[in-house]
Amino acid sequence: MTFPPDLNILEQAVESVRPQLPEGCSPQRAVICGSGWGDVVQDLHCLREIPYENIPGFGATGVVGHQGVLVVVETASGTALIFKGRRHFYEGEGWTPIAIPIFLSLKLGVQDLLLTNSAGAVDPDFQVGDLMMMTDHINLIGENPLVGRHHEVWGPRFPDLTTLYSPDAQSRLQRAASKAGISLQTGVYAATRGPVYETPAEVQAWKTLGASAVGMSTVPEAILAHAAGIRVTGVSCMTNFAAGISPTPLSHEEVTASTREAMPRMRALVKEWLNCGQ
Ligand code: HPA
Repeated sequence: MTFPPDLNILEQAVESVRPQLPEGCSPQRAVICGSGWGDVVQDLHCLREIPYENIPGFGATGVVGHQGVLVVVETASGTALIFKGRRHFYEGEGWTPIAIPIFLSLKLGVQDLLLTNSAGAVDPDFQVGDLMMMTDHINLIGENPLVGRHHEVWGPRFPDLTTLYSPDAQSRLQRAASKAGISLQTGVYAATRGPVYETPAEVQAWKTLGASAVGMSTVPEAILAHAAGIRVTGVSCMTNFAAGISPTPLSHEEVTASTREAMPRMRALVKEWLNCGQ
């Protein structure tokens, strides 16, 4: 049995972060960094760093490649929040830690959210190191963060997901990519519960269902943010071929090594997305 995000804790998180922000700061954009994406902040102008441990309900991420720091940065388009590291459903602590960056973003005025992740490539035309813009998702987690008592902060009881990854948000990411000189793959991200990687038969099944890539995150945050009225964009780094397609066994070391190689492109894309106008 899992419960919806605990709103009392979410409010406490906001109350703890707000006074630590620079005076007059009103972030319009936020990025959640998936496995290996944290170093995208490296050449951004950092104003504040707030460790997740100091944010009620957030807690340290237990996963290598997820640093667990909220970084407030200044960009050409204004202030932005960079969540260096994400909490996952497979960590077994329910939805509250996963909802914290979304609720913080919402309450601090963020309108555009970029969700990043590492994923296994299912589409045989992809290469390791490719960046894929998420055009849609398939939720294979078997859970949904909105199950349970409804609260109006998450919009209507039955949110429509038809345009979760809206055409506007997608064209903005494409503009950022072309400014950065990067070509993006596009495709459907399938999220499993993890923490195991898939079996080869599962990968074939998800492929038949329409998946281009598979991972263990992002979808819950995308649902919460969209339900709360935040514009969502998603991008995956193909860190490996999915099980059965890859000639070698999968490992988290391979995932982090691949993101290190792709980092110059990941960094350029995030920077352009942050700087780029509406
Ligand atoms: N499967 C699931 N999650 C992942 C993978 C994968 O192949 N690669 C990176 N995250």
